[in-house]
Amino acid sequence: MENAERTLQMLQQDENVRQMENFVQHGKISTYEHCKRVTDLSRRLNRHLHLNADEETLVTGAMLHDFYLYDWHSDEKPRREKGLKRLQKLHGFEHPKKASENARKYFNVNKDVQHVIDSHMWPLTLTKMPRTREAWIVCLADKWASLQETLFMRR
Ligand SMILES: [Fe+2]
Ligand SMILES: [Fe+2]
Repeated sequence: MENAERTLQMLQQDENVRQMENFVQHGKISTYEHCKRVTDLSRRLNRHLHLNADEETLVTGAMLHDFYLYDWHSDEKPRREKGLKRLQKLHGFEHPKKASENARKYFNVNKDVQHVIDSHMWPLTLTKMPRTREAWIVCLADKWASLQETLFMRR
């Protein structure tokens, strides 16, 4: 079996990764399902468009890109901050950092994988622009998958 496939199977069976089944991403899609969809789409883009991204970095980054492990719909954060500070505490800005931390903590992922996770919300996170093929693919696949889930896969 190729490395990327083996890594992906390990990730998809891992109990911490499976925790993502407990959180809703969009509509009726769990965060786990969302990550699987982004992974599939990323691989298809890479293969069909012959983008030559590293498959193992790609699937690891894609599968863990939203590995933040909390329900972003329940908002228990204090609302004392104002303006830009408050905006930066919002889920969209914050979660790549948390996902990247978890990916390091549980799987000791390398810098390339961290970069895929850190930059997936660009251009929202302005300073974290994708600079590798793997990061660009996941950034685009995530936007496409999220749009589909929001528009067509509602409860
Ligand atoms: Fe995300
Ligand atoms: Fe996502």
